[in-house]
Amino acid sequence: MSVSRRDFLGAGAAAAAGLALPRLAEGMPAITVRGRAEPEITPFAGRPVIISAANGYNRDSSGKRGIEVAWDMLTKGADPLDAIVSGVQIVELDPNDNSVGLGGLPNEDGVVELDASCMHGPTKRAGAVGAIQDIATPAAVARDVMIHTDHIFLVGEGAKRFAIEMGYKPQNLLTERAREYWVKWKSTLNPGDNWLDPDQIPPMKGQRPAPTGAGRPDDEEYSSNTHVWFDRNGVPHTYGTINMNAITASGDIASVTTTSGLSWKIPGRVGDSPLIGAGQYCDNEVGAAGSTGRGEANIKVCGAFLAVEFMRQGMTPQAALMKVMERVIAMTEDRLMVNGKPTFQLQYYAVNKKGEYAAACCYEGSTFAVADEKGARIEKCAYMYKASEQPAVPLSGVLRKP
Ligand code: GLY
Repeated sequence: MSVSRRDFLGAGAAAAAGLALPRLAEGMPAITVRGRAEPEITPFAGRPVIISAANGYNRDSSGKRGIEVAWDMLTKGADPLDAIVSGVQIVELDPNDNSVGLGGLPNEDGVVELDASCMHGPTKRAGAVGAIQDIATPAAVARDVMIHTDHIFLVGEGAKRFAIEMGYKPQNLLTERAREYWVKWKSTLNPGDNWLDPDQIPPMKGQRPAPTGAGRPDDEEYSSNTHVWFDRNGVPHTYGTINMNAITASGDIASVTTTSGLSWKIPGRVGDSPLIGAGQYCDNEVGAAGSTGRGEANIKVCGAFLAVEFMRQGMTPQAALMKVMERVIAMTEDRLMVNGKPTFQLQYYAVNKKGEYAAACCYEGSTFAVADEKGARIEKCAYMYKASEQPAVPLSGVLRKP
């Protein structure tokens, strides 16, 4: 079945009119495989699985609801990309997740700019949007770039115009809380500041001091919700992001990553999330992988693509991800290394064609969400270094205005 643009716009209007999730996903046009509505069945000896960044799973957050909704759809026969785009959309629309979609921390100018990308294994297609403003659900827009255009990657104003044409409703994504934090961040700047100044860079996740007197009473709850940490001024910083990968009972695979990216970034900065091969990658014959954390570190190794290639060579998901992490560290510039160890955190997630999955991080402490026949749950990431081995230095990459 093919869906005309007009049909789609009808579905988009219905969504804009307030259809509740996950029905929003049901309004999406079906993904077709060479003119057929049903995906091609590829040889498969595995089981359905979804693996995802945790995004506050233990706090009964949108991260938990997201993977549960995606799993429910997958087990009812949904296309794997439809299932995971619907799953991450719950996080995108959650104003309390400060790292993704609505409520994401803004750029230097106080404007929320979002990045997302996706891949659909059975049809070998991909879509992405970068630095898109005013549209809360960039993962679905990336999917629409994939379905409705001959392009893969739209950015900035063009991406927003495309989304509006497709029926998405523009809205202000800056929540009052994110605006208050932005004002506080602005107030800590000095005219002589540069973008790299270790003195003002906040501590790594896991070494986070309690918010200072400058912080809000509920900062701690806010920070536990996602990948966020507070500096000495009580200003939060994040790389944020959710990556989700799924394999169906028939062995079809898909991947999606969506983020508001690095907080207080230079306008126009895009991280790894919208880059096919970095933020996520999927090959229906092999598996899928994706990343959260410091995008600048992942971009240089094309981490998601590399993980899938390592799995193609026969490595398990965990071995592949650890090998990618080794490559990240080998490719890290000196200014970000202390005693041979990086001064940042990064996470990878992967699933292979057999339904085997793993997640890995640089420093012990990260968790991930997984759903399979045992239900949805949280598990610990494999890691390169123990938490105690973290250099006692601030996290790299936080920006200041010159
Ligand atoms: N991994 C998200 C970012 O760096 O933007």
